[in-house]
Amino acid sequence: MRLSEKVVILTGASSGIGEATALRFAEEGAKLVIVARSGDKLEKIAEKASAFPGEVHPIVGDVSKKEDIENVVNKTIELFGRIDILINNAGILDNYLSADNMTDEVWNKVLDVNLTGPMRLTREVLKYMEKQKHGNIINTSSVGGLYGGRGGLAYVASKHALIGMTKHIGFMFQDKGIRCNAIAPGSIGTEIGLKVTNPNMSVLNKLMKHFELFPQTGEPNEIANIMLFLASEESSFINGTTIVADGGWTAF
Ligand SMILES: NC(=O)c1ccc[n+]([C@@H]2O[C@H](COP(=O)([O-])OP(=O)(O)OC[C@H]3O[C@@H](n4cnc5c(N)ncnc54)[C@H](O)[C@@H]3O)[C@@H](O)[C@H]2O)c1
Repeated sequence: MRLSEKVVILTGASSGIGEATALRFAEEGAKLVIVARSGDKLEKIAEKASAFPGEVHPIVGDVSKKEDIENVVNKTIELFGRIDILINNAGILDNYLSADNMTDEVWNKVLDVNLTGPMRLTREVLKYMEKQKHGNIINTSSVGGLYGGRGGLAYVASKHALIGMTKHIGFMFQDKGIRCNAIAPGSIGTEIGLKVTNPNMSVLNKLMKHFELFPQTGEPNEIANIMLFLASEESSFINGTTIVADGGWTAF
């Protein structure tokens, strides 16, 4: 097993890429704390994972709330005494707004979940990772974090910033045995798009123009496998960078 006894905090674990990652990591023997806002969904995932050798502990939390983040980290330490791996995976889309029609409400909400949450969680776990002298942080960015035409303004800005944060953390903490990398998935078949209410159609239509060239939609498990590679020692010399997994969407 590639993650035997590894203690992992995984956010956004109640569906999609996070759910697939929770199950994949449990198969590989990890001890996981899975985080999302819905306790019922997390419990169902923990139940599915009970067939595997790892352990899965649901903790309800909203990554945009500082007190929830502190609670998740404190409870993980109470349960296991250390944190080996943090996966900042929770994320939301915006309503495909552009700079001329962005609202403060949408901007703040998206940045709080996609960027401030990962920063705060990283800040909290680093307290333990620095003492342990090892740690591994993985951020779920997006091809929207590398290109301008793959999402609304707040989403694209937050995912670009997450890649910048990944590089900064990777550089600053490499001498302390801590790595930080990001994954930039292309389009993956999850619920994320269904959660968008009232999209701005003029922005969306403009973004959709290149979709006819778009090769394929990926499966959550295809991203979970990359999470596993980055979380394992097989990727020990990879730090401060981003792995793109998009079936070739950004190859043109
Ligand atoms: N699906 C795609 O095409 C795609 C592409 C690139 C990047 N991503 C990124 O992958 C990550 C996972 O998305 P997904 O596609 O699996 O979508 P999803 O909607 O199925 O999963 C998102 C998860 O984040 C959780 N979440 C949202 N807001 C939260 C909050 N405030 N606090 C705690 N949890 C919260 C949701 O409950 C869910 O568990 C996101 O960061 C997303 O931006 C997805």
